[in-house]
Amino acid sequence: MAMDFSHKRVAILGAGKIGGILLNALLEKGLLSPTLTSATVQHEDRARVLSEKLGVPVSTDNLAAVSKADIIFVCVKPQVVQELMEQIRPAVSPDQLVISVAASVSTSQIEKALGGNIPVVRAMPNTPCALGCGMTAICKGKFASSRHVETACALFDLVGRTVVVDEKHMDAVTGLSASGPAYIYIILESLAEAGVKVGLPRDVATLLAAQTTLGAATVVLQTGDHPALLKDAVTTPAGCTIDGIMELEEGKLRVTLIKAVVKAAQRAKELASG
Ligand SMILES: NC(=O)c1ccc[n+]([C@@H]2O[C@H](COP(=O)([O-])OP(=O)(O)OC[C@H]3O[C@@H](n4cnc5c(N)ncnc54)[C@H](OP(=O)(O)O)[C@@H]3O)[C@@H](O)[C@H]2O)c1
Repeated sequence: MAMDFSHKRVAILGAGKIGGILLNALLEKGLLSPTLTSATVQHEDRARVLSEKLGVPVSTDNLAAVSKADIIFVCVKPQVVQELMEQIRPAVSPDQLVISVAASVSTSQIEKALGGNIPVVRAMPNTPCALGCGMTAICKGKFASSRHVETACALFDLVGRTVVVDEKHMDAVTGLSASGPAYIYIILESLAEAGVKVGLPRDVATLLAAQTTLGAATVVLQTGDHPALLKDAVTTPAGCTIDGIMELEEGKLRVTLIKAVVKAAQRAKELASG
């Protein structure tokens, strides 16, 4: 049975890109009650604009937002998390759940900064959550129960798929699925350029590239088949696809993508320290 969040008081600390996406999506889905939801940002002028846009109270007062919340989302930049946790520490209790989406910052760092056995769940979503097709990996801290993990999964399930992982994998997740939309947009843009090069109108080329990407991803998700097998099914002997694949191999597409994820995952480890 779906969890009922209509009576839960939720505070989103740092309603920037990802915090704003989550706030907007959860309100639009009707999961959260606008009267019980609040958010914070750093700048007063942005708070005013956001409050008008979303129809929920948005302020710069983290302590006030936290003191009224059952669930606290931490959506600030990794470098700001420590300072923010120290700031809200007096208002946080073990009855609340803290869900941090900050890259790089471990649950133990957050627990230590908050003190007092606070349940902490770490989540790594991505921007497609805005349209309900996001991917979020979730792991739990020392004081979080399986019920807390279920609560976090139920929230993120509303905006896409979720997977529970060991915390040691969170930097890898950051480099793959959190950064991943950027890589896919570059691939899509390149395929669309290629369509233009071979004579297609740009809008048609972009549609073909995007729907083909969506279609291939849907087949992988729905069949569970290995991508290599699915690729083989497209590749007729002496046909045109194998010529295209040879160009991809010569251009080192595979190793380039692997290196991109490895680099981003390495960088994810360092973010909290600046
Ligand atoms: N973007 C992604 O695709 C993505 C995906 C997964 C996870 N994340 C994680 O999400 C976090 C935020 O990233 P983002 O891309 O959303 O950054 P962002 O757009 O810069 O948002 C950060 C927000 O934090 C606010 N803020 C800064 N200091 C604050 C404070 N002391 N109290 C309250 N709010 C404060 C900022 O306020 P102002 O608006 O007033 O400046 C801004 O709204 C990062 O830790 C990142 O690792 C991001």
